[in-house]
Amino acid sequence: MGTKKHPGTRILVVDDEPAMREVLELRLAGWGFEVRTAPDGAQAKEAAESFQPDIVISDVVMPRMTGMELLESLRAGDPDRPVILVTAQATVDLAVEAMKRGARDFITKPIDYPKLRAILARAEEEVAERRESRRLEAELERGAGFGDFVGGGRAMREVYALIETVASSDAGVIISGESGTGKELAARTIHRLSKRAEGPFVAVNSSAIPENLMESEMFGHERGAFTGAASMHAGCFERAHRGTLLLDEIAEMPLALQPKLLRVLEDQKVRRVGGGAEFSVDVRVLAATNREPREAVAGGKLREDLFYRLNVFTITLPPLRERREDIALLAQAFITRFNRKHNARVEACKGETLELLRAYAWPGNVRELKNTMERAVILARGPWIEPSHLPPYLLGPAGRTPGLAPAPGITAAEAEKELILGTLRLTGNNKAEAARRLGLDVKTIRNKLKAYGIK
Ligand SMILES: Nc1ncnc2c1ncn2[C@@H]1O[C@H](COP(=O)(O)OP(=O)(O)OP(=O)(O)O)[C@@H](O)[C@H]1O
Ligand SMILES: [Mg+2]
Repeated sequence: MGTKKHPGTRILVVDDEPAMREVLELRLAGWGFEVRTAPDGAQAKEAAESFQPDIVISDVVMPRMTGMELLESLRAGDPDRPVILVTAQATVDLAVEAMKRGARDFITKPIDYPKLRAILARAEEEVAERRESRRLEAELERGAGFGDFVGGGRAMREVYALIETVASSDAGVIISGESGTGKELAARTIHRLSKRAEGPFVAVNSSAIPENLMESEMFGHERGAFTGAASMHAGCFERAHRGTLLLDEIAEMPLALQPKLLRVLEDQKVRRVGGGAEFSVDVRVLAATNREPREAVAGGKLREDLFYRLNVFTITLPPLRERREDIALLAQAFITRFNRKHNARVEACKGETLELLRAYAWPGNVRELKNTMERAVILARGPWIEPSHLPPYLLGPAGRTPGLAPAPGITAAEAEKELILGTLRLTGNNKAEAARRLGLDVKTIRNKLKAYGIK
């Protein structure tokens, strides 16, 4: 971290002694900083306005306005700007007072230049990070995203365009993508932008409901239709009338039920289980899956006729590791969100933290990033998210993706496997805990283990 890392960093030097100003100016300029000087507090305030320094170095004992007073008034204008105080007579009291009033650092005359240089390097880094976080905030304010989607990278802009296109029609859409990539968010966005926005949005997850209850969940049942059916139950189609129904995890839909579903989609008519008359429903159906939909058809998990009926459009959400350009912005958006939720005041990620976030493979995608940021906001005491606020597995090479990882020739799938197994080892084979740490569903972990052939 050299001081020349960010050329153009501006420093204002305030001292009533001309010789001191000159010496400091020469040194600082020699280190590559842009320097202005001021002989007293009043002129320093003017210079702060016109020169907009990133860092201020000020003498403490000066006629008229002391460095302490100057510090106070500068901080009133910009509380984030680092101010470093310099004094000939350092006392503990003075140092304590300076820190209490928000001085970044405190050094004594004669100046220890290597020490000053180290202090400046740290301050400069902070300035750069603050700039980056302002840039990200500005980008968020400009609405770099779409609806509740954050991120304006090329991959996602294509997704946004597709969402917009399909929203205006009533056609079926299959939304595919790995776990946590935003499939449900995409479905809700389509609904919100469609002419059905005023109607209900209902999501039914085929893998979360026991197979024998699925039919009544979808189509409803009459009272007494089967043991335990104590009262009439409205199915998802009825509840989604004049709105949108999301069939989540469509590839997990019981095969026996798929022909019935197809019929309802074609006729827009439902009959409750154990019920008499058919009645009409007006429902737009979206489907989501974290498999490749055509593979689900080929593998016999999804009937081909149903697939064609649903798949007028396909939207594929790219995994987070393929849109690293959005990671910093997403992290910042989650910081803002979780600051509010946890009443915290985190500003941003340290540069190093961002590097780690960008390097990680994110098997749990945006959901995992979201969980990681929530944890970090809770752990961070100060304004910055440091690498130490990230889960340990994010710091090691195991979580790195190929290309960024030192291991040559490792594929994303291998890296993911390594990560999942590594996390399981860390958690003593506790699948639920490993799932939580990775931001994955337990179900996903089970499926992956099955695919690896591990019991
Ligand atoms: N681009 C994004 N910007 C902001 N938040 C996002 C983005 N993508 C996803 N999220 C958030 O991440 C979380 C996971 O998204 P969502 O539930 O839509 O994923 P999913 O693909 O349906 O996952 P699963 O396959 O596990 O059901 C949600 O809280 C969602 O709001
Ligand atoms: Mg989902």
